[in-house]
Amino acid sequence: MIGLALLLGCSPPERPGGAIAPLPIAPIAPAAAPTMPRPGPPEPGYDPIAVNAACIDCHRAIGEENAASFHGQAHVDPIYQTALAIEPLPFCRACHAPEADPRQPVSAALGALGVTCTSCHWSQGRVLAGLASAGRAADPHRGLVAAPVVRIEAFAGPSACAGCHEFHFPDGRARARPELMQSTISEHRQSPFAEVGCGSCHMPTVKTVAGGHRSHAFASSRDPRTLRATLDVKAERTSAGVRLQITPAAIGHAMPTGDLFRRLRIEVEQIGPDMNVVAVKRRFLARHFESRPTITSLRRTVVRDDRPGGADVGHETQVIEFAFPDLAPGHFFGWRIELERVLHPAPGGDEKAVVAHRQVIGEGKL
Ligand code: HEC
Ligand code: HEC
Ligand code: HEC
Ligand code: HEC
Ligand code: HEC
Repeated sequence: MIGLALLLGCSPPERPGGAIAPLPIAPIAPAAAPTMPRPGPPEPGYDPIAVNAACIDCHRAIGEENAASFHGQAHVDPIYQTALAIEPLPFCRACHAPEADPRQPVSAALGALGVTCTSCHWSQGRVLAGLASAGRAADPHRGLVAAPVVRIEAFAGPSACAGCHEFHFPDGRARARPELMQSTISEHRQSPFAEVGCGSCHMPTVKTVAGGHRSHAFASSRDPRTLRATLDVKAERTSAGVRLQITPAAIGHAMPTGDLFRRLRIEVEQIGPDMNVVAVKRRFLARHFESRPTITSLRRTVVRDDRPGGADVGHETQVIEFAFPDLAPGHFFGWRIELERVLHPAPGGDEKAVVAHRQVIGEGKL
């Protein structure tokens, strides 16, 4: 067995005498239906630190990818910590530190796990997996690990992500109508990629000497090439200024998706013959919120969603015109589209928002 494990590119933990890895877990309830990944608190009956250390000890490459990913960093992420300091709710900890009890302060050790192996794969002493691809055993843990692999089709689809990637504002009961704080699963359902699982785009196969595995880096837009491929942009001059035609491309939801304050910033500059900037126009494509103060917080409601792939526009081409009144011969234009991760909006409009991070998606001269 150890030979087989080594052949497959994993080194089993030291196991004095026994053939089965001693995962510190409670007895399995065989009749219980598998549960899909969801926010914490974790199931009782296992020690998250010991069990995940055992997973990673055998699945080394996946362990490293996950630790470096935004999943692995979900609790220590400085942007999250800044936002948490403003709104320190158990609600937040349930997703960003799902291996800890959200009702208590998160210990450094459980926080450091972030979203980890058991947060997605663990269900009552079993390890969930998608259906076996060619050459894979029904239960590759059999005779090797105390937690059997259980294969279910749904684990390869959006339900493996839905528990954490779509949720309402925590003040749901105080609202006339619940409002989604993140809506990636609904956006996916309405996209041309509704039949394509999230993992097909977000977990490409990485080749290794051992044959390859599905990436757990969940890189997405942090990768500049992937980011530039998300939109098809056609830019042209018109008699009044500039016209941009924006069409969502290889993207299975709105662009951007996820965190509620993410947005696209479009800027067009009119430039004079001496390279002087004559005029600047901006537009933000986002979920635009109306906020009304309540006794304890601000209640946000979406009033418009003009993101490519978003509720108001869908995956059709969106035409955006920028008109400049004082066009003179010799003038030209520079345009740029950027993804902005907004830390928090500020009074005084879109221009005033505090931006944590910005990446260029496309730019050009006309
Ligand atoms: C003693 C070593 C060992 C331990 C501990 C272990 N695994 Fe595995 N696991 C394997 C081997 C070997 C395979 C089969 C080869 C492969 O897919 O890497 C496997 C297969 C799997 C698969 C199925 C892959 C497929 O075929 O679809 C998943 C999912 C998985 N492990 C997750 C986990 C998780 C989560 C943990 C911790 C709870 C864990 N493993 C603990 C050795 C181990
Ligand atoms: C964010 C959720 C998530 C986390 C965290 C996660 N996995 Fe996975 N894992 C998945 C999904 C989804 C699949 C692929 C299911 C499919 O499409 O068949 C998968 C696939 C796998 C496979 C099979 C790989 C292959 O090549 O088919 C192994 C082994 C595995 N995970 C182990 C781990 C280990 C070990 C950890 C912790 C270091 C971990 N996973 C963390 C969701 C997760
Ligand atoms: C247990 C909860 C949980 C599950 C299940 C989960 N995620 Fe996540 N995911 C998170 C959290 C929390 C973050 C944000 C971490 C941060 O940046 O602070 C995140 C971040 C991400 C990111 C990176 C976002 C960025 O800004 O770069 C991607 C991509 C992602 N998840 C995709 C998936 C997919 C696909 C699945 C299903 C296979 C999945 N996640 C399942 C909680 C989860
Ligand atoms: C057709 C491919 C495709 C499918 C299917 C897909 N995504 Fe994405 N996803 C992308 C691309 C490309 C990006 C990067 C652009 C962005 O940030 O919106 C992305 C971005 C994200 C982000 C934001 C990460 C960031 O870097 O800002 C999250 C979270 C995410 N996807 C989750 C999911 C989930 C959950 C599903 C399934 C319900 C899913 N995706 C389905 C291609 C896809
Ligand atoms: C149901 C799960 C869930 C809850 C509850 C939740 N989050 Fe998140 N959070 C996520 C996911 C998933 C992402 C990744 C989406 C993305 O990156 O686009 C995320 C991303 C973020 C980000 C962006 C991180 C980055 O690096 O860009 C911040 C900040 C954040 N969350 C703060 C909070 C705060 C503060 C709370 C509590 C008020 C909270 N979250 C509650 C799941 C959750």
